[in-house]
Amino acid sequence: MADEVRPLFWNDGGLQVLDQRLLPYAVRHIQCSSPEDVAAAIKAMNVRGAPAIGVAAAFGMAMAIEETSKASEAGIRSRIDHAAALLLESRPTAVNLRWAVERMQSRAAALMASGGMDPARLRAQLISEAALILDEDIAGNRRIGQFGQQLLPSNSTVLTHCNAGALATAGYGTALGVVRAARDAGKHISVFADETRPFLQGARLTTWELQQEGIDVTLITDSTAGSFFQKGTFDAVIVGADRIAANGDTANKIGTFTLAVLADAHGVPFYVAAPWSTIDPRCKSGADIPIEERSAEEVTHTTGQDAEGTMHTVRTAPEGIHALHPAFDVTPARLITAIITDRGVLRPPFRISE
Ligand code: MRU
Repeated sequence: MADEVRPLFWNDGGLQVLDQRLLPYAVRHIQCSSPEDVAAAIKAMNVRGAPAIGVAAAFGMAMAIEETSKASEAGIRSRIDHAAALLLESRPTAVNLRWAVERMQSRAAALMASGGMDPARLRAQLISEAALILDEDIAGNRRIGQFGQQLLPSNSTVLTHCNAGALATAGYGTALGVVRAARDAGKHISVFADETRPFLQGARLTTWELQQEGIDVTLITDSTAGSFFQKGTFDAVIVGADRIAANGDTANKIGTFTLAVLADAHGVPFYVAAPWSTIDPRCKSGADIPIEERSAEEVTHTTGQDAEGTMHTVRTAPEGIHALHPAFDVTPARLITAIITDRGVLRPPFRISE
């Protein structure tokens, strides 16, 4: 069995990011050497998925301090503030990004308060903190997997949406981590993956990642799910989350809400799998969660590879057509059977605090 994929890792003085825009056509890494590089990679979705962008942002914060710089204390502080602002505005919905940036800011403040103003040393300490966040994410996902797999009987067929796998985290995955843990517990699990228009995280990423490990996966178009619910194909739906409000309302990839309604209508359990860093008690309900609007061009065009391996973006809608592209929706807590976290399984009514 192949090791599960790692979407980002630190080496040679930079953050190596597996370019998810190119998958499954090419496995290529891009190097990010500054907070600006990381913010650009998050915005363009070279790296995506709530926990993964949090980890990337943490390394971006560490790289705000240049090794060779002779910066003054004020200069270092201003560089950290600048990096935080830049990273925070790169994508708005996944709260893991804010969580990681704030943790790095606190760590930097604590180190500086204790006299650590040497740039090279401060940078090294902040890189260690980011590496710790990465390790903690993988360990948390393994715990999510352990808690979650107990909810799945053997021979289950699970529907998932978008990609909440190793690619969307530091490794192992949340929703797909549950599938991995069930497989490791000796259960046979089949996965159905929605293609997840328009970025095609399901078609390009979830299928690719599961195929690497020989986990049984079937790809369906987004509009096909309902007919399989009618046939009784699914034993559970498991999705990830970008932000969970204090009352359990959950923002995740656009189309998640539709699946929750279908699951409810057919008596199928609907599970959200997410680390505690995805919970935002500052949001009382889903109405407080900012929803990212992405470019309409991602809806009117599609990208693929030709036989020679060249990538092409082609128009799939008439020129000048009006299109909308909210990237996430909110599933009300009443449709969620349980939230599987790294601290255990939460059941309704959800009243989540720090
Ligand atoms: O736009 P994306 O690809 O970043 O959206 C990702 C999702 O919606 C995932 O389901 C979510 O971030 C959870 S990933 C463990």
